[in-house]
Amino acid sequence: MNYLNKTALVTGGSSGIGLAIAKELARRGSQVIIVGRDTSNTEDAIAELAVISRTSVRGITVDLSQAGAIQRIQQQIEGQPIDILVNCAGFGTAGEFYMQDAAKERDEIAVNVVALTDLIHVFLPAMIERRSGVVLNIASTAAFQPLARAAVYAATKSYVLSLSIALHQECKSYGVQVAALCPGMTRTKFFDKANWHTTRDTERTFRTVEQVANTAMQLIESARPYRIDGLRNTILAHFARLIGPSLSARLSDSFMRSNHN
Ligand SMILES: NC(=O)c1ccc[n+]([C@@H]2O[C@H](COP(=O)([O-])OP(=O)(O)OC[C@H]3O[C@@H](n4cnc5c(N)ncnc54)[C@H](OP(=O)(O)O)[C@@H]3O)[C@@H](O)[C@H]2O)c1
Repeated sequence: MNYLNKTALVTGGSSGIGLAIAKELARRGSQVIIVGRDTSNTEDAIAELAVISRTSVRGITVDLSQAGAIQRIQQQIEGQPIDILVNCAGFGTAGEFYMQDAAKERDEIAVNVVALTDLIHVFLPAMIERRSGVVLNIASTAAFQPLARAAVYAATKSYVLSLSIALHQECKSYGVQVAALCPGMTRTKFFDKANWHTTRDTERTFRTVEQVANTAMQLIESARPYRIDGLRNTILAHFARLIGPSLSARLSDSFMRSNHN
């Protein structure tokens, strides 16, 4: 894959996994446009990327849970062709469903599912016309089983994985790579933001954003529809599939109980 003279739009590029992927793309010579919600996070990320990048780095601040967010992104990029779309923006909620704030979980669906789908609708047709392009969607190992105590989050990520595999099949004959990256637990601000407490034992197994970004680049350059980051996560995800959704929901319940106060 030639990254030079390519433009990448990375949602969630202001932090964590999205920023690490944006850095890999910038290092390879692509022009990077990051999308974040928080202005100061986005400015800090632009400054980090500018040190690496061979071309200009741009940032767009927009709340993807809000109506009109996609139109704002379209206005800001002013018709510039997007060669690589990385849908990484997302967040989780943890705890029993009946105790969750309904509006927050609606926003979670709006960001993790609706905005991701809308952005593919905006940029995929031109990629197909050009017979080249990449859409990388960030799912999760949570996509492989129902997660008691993170029920909405896991359901959003199942959607992302399912959509990506189906679009991969539709788009491969047009020369467009659509794929889902499935990270397991990774050291970012994700868990603090989700009020998702983790134990020291669990934290020892966390992957780094650099490891995840490395897997993301391998996936972009492969012809695969999805990839799980890390051997341990791969084994756990396949085990969840093997034992089926009911038993894996039961196991996730006890895991989440020990990880969530
Ligand atoms: N960390 C993990 O263990 C893990 C595992 C599997 C999958 N993932 C997935 O990886 C992706 C990135 O998460 P992360 O771990 O890197 O967490 P993170 O550091 O919290 O990054 C989340 C990114 O999404 C952006 N974002 C969140 N809500 C948004 C909104 N309403 N509008 C616009 N941007 C929004 C954030 O922007 P601001 O900072 O500006 O708010 C930030 O750039 C998510 O889709 C997450 O579900 C994470």
